Amino acid sequence: MDIDHVWLFCMRVHIRKGHRSMYGKASAAIMVGPNRPLQVETIDLDDPGFGEVVVRLRASGVCHSDISFLEGKWPAPLPYILGHEGAGTIEAVGPGVSSRRVGENVVLTFVPGCGRCRFCLEGRINLCTEAAWCLDEGTLPDGTTRYRWQRDTVYFLGQVGSFSTHAVVPSSVALKVPDELDPIEGCLLGCGVMTGVAAVTGLANVRPGDSVAIFGCGGVGLSAIQGARLVGADPIIAVDLLPEKRKMAKQLGATHVVDARAVDPIEAIRDLTQGGADFTFEASGNPLVAEQSVLSARTGGTTVLIGQPAVGKTMQVNVFDVTQFEHYILGTHIGGATPAIVIPRLARLALRGLIDLKSLVTHRLPLSDVNEAIAIAKSGGAGRVVLEL
Ligand SMILES: NC(=O)c1ccc[n+]([C@@H]2O[C@H](COP(=O)([O-])OP(=O)(O)OC[C@H]3O[C@@H](n4cnc5c(N)ncnc54)[C@H](O)[C@@H]3O)[C@@H](O)[C@H]2O)c1
Ligand SMILES: [Zn+2]
Ligand SMILES: [Zn+2]
Repeated sequence: MDIDHVWLFCMRVHIRKGHRSMYGKASAAIMVGPNRPLQVETIDLDDPGFGEVVVRLRASGVCHSDISFLEGKWPAPLPYILGHEGAGTIEAVGPGVSSRRVGENVVLTFVPGCGRCRFCLEGRINLCTEAAWCLDEGTLPDGTTRYRWQRDTVYFLGQVGSFSTHAVVPSSVALKVPDELDPIEGCLLGCGVMTGVAAVTGLANVRPGDSVAIFGCGGVGLSAIQGARLVGADPIIAVDLLPEKRKMAKQLGATHVVDARAVDPIEAIRDLTQGGADFTFEASGNPLVAEQSVLSARTGGTTVLIGQPAVGKTMQVNVFDVTQFEHYILGTHIGGATPAIVIPRLARLALRGLIDLKSLVTHRLPLSDVNEAIAIAKSGGAGRVVLEL
């Protein structure tokens, strides 16, 4: 029993509110409004319900999507706990969950899959309607959360809400990974790494020798580069505005880098690939870059849009060219991955040194410095900023 267990055990008291009993307390960074600093506050945790677990979170990555919620580009119910790249240990289980799960090293997923909706039944778990509903509502599938602050319900991002020391979530959200996987690195599998690698190796199914261009070298783009390296793509062209990001791209597998401020990336990619890449990936979240990624693909080529701008933003495409030159333009949510399969698989690859998670973690900060963490992530200069919880 470590110090957290002792503390939480002492905090286990019953409260006079409905039939809920209180599990304990957590420290969480709470969003109180768009573009306002996050507030690190103590919140009350209810006991886990049927089929739920309590996770003692150890680390959370900061994905650009957290920033889009914070900037009000995507709607969020308030007060709200951001964070969807979480990793830690199962500390307690609710009724209906085997006590053998206590102590498991886990990575959380915001797309557990309900197993009942049309998309889950089709095997397209990443599009699960229940997971999408929870993401919109900021709640568990039953429409509630296990968190309260100043007696108000606290909502949380995609059944994960990892800017917190604890999460009370459905057992299916907490995916077991090998004990040796350090949560500081493992947390990145929850979104950025899974999305980038799966977009290349799964959704696009890039084959050895295919030419690939990746726009934007953040946590997602650098992971797409690693996916391209894993499957033997060549060349692997990385585009970014920042020299430090282009350097990281080279370290992680890019064969060529393009400075989109110094040259026209479309021309540079066409030159390097004799007319356009077989596959282009957009991972910056800028619709103008999405247009560039479309124009950089060859006749018959494929463009995968991963980056997500504010809700409602549009891009222009030349319809004649797209039809005449049979250009595939695909959008993707988490690279089309089934997290319960892909996350443990990527964990094994990381432990075997085939995916480099360590280099992606360029900044580690405590939860108390969450606003600084957000500012660093927003600057675009980080591989990934990780909060130590
Ligand atoms: N579709 C999905 O399932 C999914 C999953 C995760 C993240 N996302 C989205 O993917 C995008 C990337 O996420 P991230 O966490 O890696 O972001 P990030 O901010 O860490 O990285 C973005 C990168 O793009 C670069 N960039 C900015 N403008 C550019 C330009 N004009 N040309 C080339 N590069 C440019 C930045 O320098 C930075 O390196 C975001 O929009 C995020 O919301 C989508
Ligand atoms: Zn994300
Ligand atoms: Zn479903």
